[in-house]
Amino acid sequence: MASASKVPPLPLLRGLELFRNGLAKLHRRTVPGHIALLELHMTGYLSQAIGAAAELGIADALAERPRQPQDLAKALGVDEDALRRLMRLLLSFDIFTQRGDGSYALNGLSKSLRSDAPVTLRDLFRFFGSEYHRNHWTHLPEAVRTGQPVGPMLDGKSFFEYTAEHRDIGELFDRAMTSVSTLAVEPLLAAYDFGRFGTLVDLGAGHGSLLIDILQRSQATRGIIFDLPEVVEELPAQLASLGLADRLTVETGSFFESVPKGGDAYILKHIIHDWSDAEAERILRTTRAAMEPDATLLIIDIVLPKHRRPHAGKFIDIEMLVNNTGRERTQVDLGNLLARGGFTLTKVTQTAAPDCVVEARPMR
Ligand SMILES: C[S@@+](CC[C@H](N)C(=O)[O-])C[C@H]1O[C@@H](n2cnc3c(N)ncnc32)[C@H](O)[C@@H]1O
Repeated sequence: MASASKVPPLPLLRGLELFRNGLAKLHRRTVPGHIALLELHMTGYLSQAIGAAAELGIADALAERPRQPQDLAKALGVDEDALRRLMRLLLSFDIFTQRGDGSYALNGLSKSLRSDAPVTLRDLFRFFGSEYHRNHWTHLPEAVRTGQPVGPMLDGKSFFEYTAEHRDIGELFDRAMTSVSTLAVEPLLAAYDFGRFGTLVDLGAGHGSLLIDILQRSQATRGIIFDLPEVVEELPAQLASLGLADRLTVETGSFFESVPKGGDAYILKHIIHDWSDAEAERILRTTRAAMEPDATLLIIDIVLPKHRRPHAGKFIDIEMLVNNTGRERTQVDLGNLLARGGFTLTKVTQTAAPDCVVEARPMR
């Protein structure tokens, strides 16, 4: 499995988080409240600017070599003056760097905007910057008024119904989820030994990047990738090209109906948080029905902390409010939900990423 050395130890990360939050608080308190608020609001512009850099492929164009603004504008087919203005904003936040000769180059922050970086966030930012996603977030007040996701009101269908039918945005979303996986996989593999299970079944696996990583590091492990047919239709060819076809198979269906039998562990990664308690309970019950009594359930999701500091889970919870029927949950919420679905929560392992591995066993 992964060596833990690539991932900083949790106590160090916690200390740094507290320190950075203290500094940010101090920063906010050194200016009048309305200025601090305005500054926070303007970070929305920055999100869009990062999304534009991702969409335009600026980091890919700088991958081979630094480029002068004129050269970069030509390579991207964009207006040079507008590009300089976009880069000026990004550079002011250390996203890209400008060398002494005026050329732009990649740096620590911008390298993960490359399509082929080991941890690539390009498609995630393209999805968040897309018209579809931005339009939904415009309707956040409506989601707060009604407590319902905005998809049915705007598109006449739920998020997953829409992405199943509109494969342009659906494929971008699937790739965005693979982006998130590249971010989470090292911390997950460093924190949890998935290789101790003979067969892993990943339900709602998307493009299967977690199982691919696990099986590449653990030769004795077998896996089943399970998702909706349109999401995984091209996967078998990819698995064959990776030399994994004999150990990693693909099955399709809906986890509301039935899931594959025969797993020693069942993974639900970033699934339970997509759904309401009633829907999540149905997924858990379907999974429970397929499981042997001694099999293990692994929910991989954020577990909301008790503290009041900023946390990724508090942002993603609003994403769930806007686009899904789900929510981020505390450990108590998850324990109660698991009990409703026929499981006992046995262990929670925090990773160096926001995700936790929540282990559960079928109730006897
Ligand atoms: C948030 S993504 C998570 C993907 C993957 N587990 C990951 O962590 O990258 C949710 C996944 O659930 C899948 N999904 C949605 N409804 C489903 C259903 N009824 N049955 C099976 N999979 C479903 C989607 O296609 C998508 O791949």
